[in-house]
Amino acid sequence: MGIFKKTVRRAVMVREDFQKLPRHVAIIMDGNGRWAKKHKLNVAMGHRQGVETLREVIRHTDDLKIEALTIYAFSTENWNRSKEEVGALMQLILDFFKSEIDELDEKNVRILILGDKALFPDKQREVLIEAENRTGGNTGLTLNICLNYGGRAELVRAAKAIAQDVKDGKLNVNDVNEQTISDRLYTTGQPDVDLMIRTSGEMRLSNFLLYQCAYAEFLFPKVLWPDFSVQDYDEALMAYGGRERRFGGRLR
Ligand code: IPE
Ligand code: IPE
Ligand code: MG
Repeated sequence: MGIFKKTVRRAVMVREDFQKLPRHVAIIMDGNGRWAKKHKLNVAMGHRQGVETLREVIRHTDDLKIEALTIYAFSTENWNRSKEEVGALMQLILDFFKSEIDELDEKNVRILILGDKALFPDKQREVLIEAENRTGGNTGLTLNICLNYGGRAELVRAAKAIAQDVKDGKLNVNDVNEQTISDRLYTTGQPDVDLMIRTSGEMRLSNFLLYQCAYAEFLFPKVLWPDFSVQDYDEALMAYGGRERRFGGRLR
C-alpha cells in the first residue's frame, strides 16, 4: 500500500452491475488518526491519505450516477482537537478545493457546504463560497461536504427559520409538518439518506445527519478510512442492495 497515491487498481463495478443503488450515500470518514498511528506517521499524514480515499470515492460515486453523496469532513466538535491538527485540516481544505474544483466542475458536480461557514478563517471561507457559487448551476452529482457541521446545530437553525417565518406571518403554526423541517435543512430538495457508511469500526452517528438518516441503512466496515478502497465501497453498495427496507410496513 503506497502512501498518498493509490496505485493498486482492481476491477471496479459499473452501474449495471447493481440491481439496486442508493440515491443518497452518506459517509463518516473515520480512522485517519489510527491509520497514522499504525504507520508511525503524524496525524496530518493520516488526514492527507484520507483525502486520497475521498477523491476515489467521489469519482466512483459520480461514475455510478448516484444522485447525492454527503461526506463528514469536520464536525462542530472537531474544533476540540489540538491547534496543530485543526491547522492541518484547514490547510487540507484549501488544498482539496484547489486541486479538485476544476475536475468536479467539469464533471457537472454541484458542491454544497453543510455547516456554518462563519467560523472558518477568511481564506477557507472564500474558497468554500467560491466552490458553491461556481458549481451551483451544475446538474450532476450533488456533493455535500459537511464542514463545521452538527446535526443538532442544523436542527436548531431549522427551528429558528421556522420561528421567524411564523413571526413574520409567512407560516401558520398548524401548517408546520415534516416537510417544513426538511425544507429548512442544508439538504433541502435532496432525497433522504439511503445508505450511511462509517469506516473504522466505530458504531455511532457522532451528530451526523440526525434528521436525514431516519430510515437509512447503516454499514460499519472495520477498515480505516485511508485504507477504504473502491472495492470496499462496491462491497458496501452490494450489501445495501441486499437489505430489505420496510419503512414500518410489511413486505407483501
Ligand atoms: C476522521 O478521522 C477525520 C476527521 C475527524 C476529520 P479521525 O481523525 O477521527 O481518526 P481516528 O478516529 O482518530 O482514528
Ligand atoms: C466524526 O468523527 C467526525 C468526522 C468524521 C468528521 P469523530 O472521530 O470526530 O467522532 P467521535 O469523536 O469518534 O465520535
Ligand atoms: Mg475518529
